[in-house]
Amino acid sequence: MKAVVQDRFGPPEQVLRLTDTDRPEPGPGEVLVRLRATSVNTPDWIAVAGVPYVLRLSTRAKGAIRGTDIAGTVEALGDGVTGLAVGDAVFGSKWGKGFTGAGTFAEYTVTTAAQLIPKPESISFTDAAAAVMSGLTAHAAVVDAFPTGPGTRLLVNGASGGVGTFAIQIAKHRGAHVTAVCGPGNLDLVKELGADRAIDYTATDFTTEPDRYDAILDNVLNHPPRRAFRALAPGGVYLPNSIGNSGGLLAGLAKMASATLLGAMGRATVRTVDGNFTPERLAAVAALLETGAVTPVIDRVYPLEETAAAVAHMYSHRARGNIVIEMGD
Ligand SMILES: NC(=O)c1ccc[n+]([C@@H]2O[C@H](COP(=O)([O-])OP(=O)(O)OC[C@H]3O[C@@H](n4cnc5c(N)ncnc54)[C@H](OP(=O)(O)O)[C@@H]3O)[C@@H](O)[C@H]2O)c1
Repeated sequence: MKAVVQDRFGPPEQVLRLTDTDRPEPGPGEVLVRLRATSVNTPDWIAVAGVPYVLRLSTRAKGAIRGTDIAGTVEALGDGVTGLAVGDAVFGSKWGKGFTGAGTFAEYTVTTAAQLIPKPESISFTDAAAAVMSGLTAHAAVVDAFPTGPGTRLLVNGASGGVGTFAIQIAKHRGAHVTAVCGPGNLDLVKELGADRAIDYTATDFTTEPDRYDAILDNVLNHPPRRAFRALAPGGVYLPNSIGNSGGLLAGLAKMASATLLGAMGRATVRTVDGNFTPERLAAVAALLETGAVTPVIDRVYPLEETAAAVAHMYSHRARGNIVIEMGD
């Protein structure tokens, strides 16, 4: 099969190459999926770039196939898999428990059956791929970690990326008042998605504004958490959700740790966004897509041969919505 294999850690365009490799075989409880589309997310650029260097101790670069989001059809079933048949359209994730063997920047991948759900016919493979990690993370934030609803005021910092564009739409669908913070080129986009107010972070610092929010989903952590807390209403909840799109990975991890510590010290209510796959959570995202309440924002679709450029685009932290890779029919 064709797959994009990593040679070493480094800039995506220097270390990723398209090659022919063996098709994986599904083991017991696993499913071989013929991929139609996947998407590029934060874990992919981190694993390709290998920054900070300490991460290189825990993951091998040579020969690795990255990518975690799955949209495709069942090609073969391992022993003991029930409830799925060859030819079924599915989507899901290799992130976490599903990451056995090679990833999704390839024509085929294998995952555990428990990491897949049926793909509704009305959702294209491209939209399904875009909705996995970004949709799951946004749903985990604005439904599970902080249940938005009528009367709640939510601020989304980093509103124009994959996670933010899903979070705006899900929170608006649930009746929340949404303030979206993004760069000047994306103000129109976030308003089109339903944001009640859009703040250009190059002109206005939301932490020094008088407005207060019941929850802040912080996809950037470009402000020290204790400053972001100032924009919380009494009893408000801070949702730190960024490792490294502003100031580097170590700085991002340090700010995430500081937010958690300040939360434990009682300075604010701080909740982790656990965007891991569960079938129920992906089904909830799928239901929102099916009814048209949420539409994935896709910045660009790349063919598998241009995966390196797709990962470089993600690494720029300037994607408008999601980046998808299509494998063709
Ligand atoms: N909890 C989980 O399971 C989980 C899973 C996946 C991702 N994440 C986290 O979610 C966050 C968002 O990911 P993403 O996929 O949506 O895309 P991303 O590329 O990491 O973030 C894009 C957003 O960040 C903004 N941004 C980038 N640099 C900025 C800066 N210096 N100052 C202010 N804003 C800046 C962009 O604004 P403009 O382009 O408009 O300027 C855009 O709105 C990431 O930090 C990632 O670590 C968490």
